[in-house]
Amino acid sequence: MSTVTLPVVEVNTYKKANPLLAKVIENRQLVNRDDSDVRHIVIDADEMNYLDGQSVGVIAPGVNEKGNPHAVRLYSIASLGSRVVGAEKLTLTVKRVVYQNEAGETIRGVCSNYLCDTKPGDVLTLTGPAGRKFLLPIAEEIERPYIFMATGTGIAPFRGFLQRLFKVTKNYQSPVYLFMGARYRDELLYDEEFKAYQAPNFHYYTAISREQKNADGSRKYIQHLMVEKAAELLPLLQDERTLFYMCGLKGMEAGFDFAIKTIAQNAGLDAGQLLASCQARLETETY
Ligand code: A2P
Repeated sequence: MSTVTLPVVEVNTYKKANPLLAKVIENRQLVNRDDSDVRHIVIDADEMNYLDGQSVGVIAPGVNEKGNPHAVRLYSIASLGSRVVGAEKLTLTVKRVVYQNEAGETIRGVCSNYLCDTKPGDVLTLTGPAGRKFLLPIAEEIERPYIFMATGTGIAPFRGFLQRLFKVTKNYQSPVYLFMGARYRDELLYDEEFKAYQAPNFHYYTAISREQKNADGSRKYIQHLMVEKAAELLPLLQDERTLFYMCGLKGMEAGFDFAIKTIAQNAGLDAGQLLASCQARLETETY
């Protein structure tokens, strides 16, 4: 994102060799389905100087199958920066990873299961903060349109970004779009919180892939929703001030390209040119 000035942030103040020991304050369930458990975990880590959009590392206790300490796992911060007056404490949005491998064995993600099972008072081993690029511009340059794209727990950084735009920034007026993808309606994370924003310039759209279908019968993803909203989005895509941020599943990148190209083609524009312009203004965090 060459045209904007990003805040200068601290990174890796706490490392594996000198981690921050931080207490869990709250562990609240956001999704409770047979096949999905997502937690909102609040941690007292005020000593760390982090900004919304950055990540923190978590080291699960114990050792791996080789007898070595577990690797650092990065989680996006779902709250405002630690130096913002009145900000909620460090918040992570964690999905319990449990899946069957090809041999039919049940695999449990070490760090996600550890975090989802924590209780208030438990002490976590943290590193970080991490990340210098997935950040909103400095205050003097923050007034501009934004298009946020999230799937699943990829919503985390946008929760902090929305708080920065609508609660911290005075009189923020440009349009903000949040496109959020989930399998089922009851997996829409922080849905009530986002719906409660009264700002007329905030546009929150959801794609529920296992409940909504495209005209051709395929699952509805956020890229399809973006194409549906082409009339609203096109002027923003063409506006060099608009910034794009994407967080969530790998595969979203291709969806972004598809959406921009389709919108351009349907409008009779040079798709390659519009895509290149939008990609130059895109920050991506997929996993
Ligand atoms: P689906 O799994 O129905 O195909 P999760 O919470 O499980 O991480 O899911 C996030 C959402 O992103 C789901 O609705 C999922 O759809 C959807 N999704 C899967 N692949 C893509 C993709 N390539 N682009 C955009 N959304 C996707």
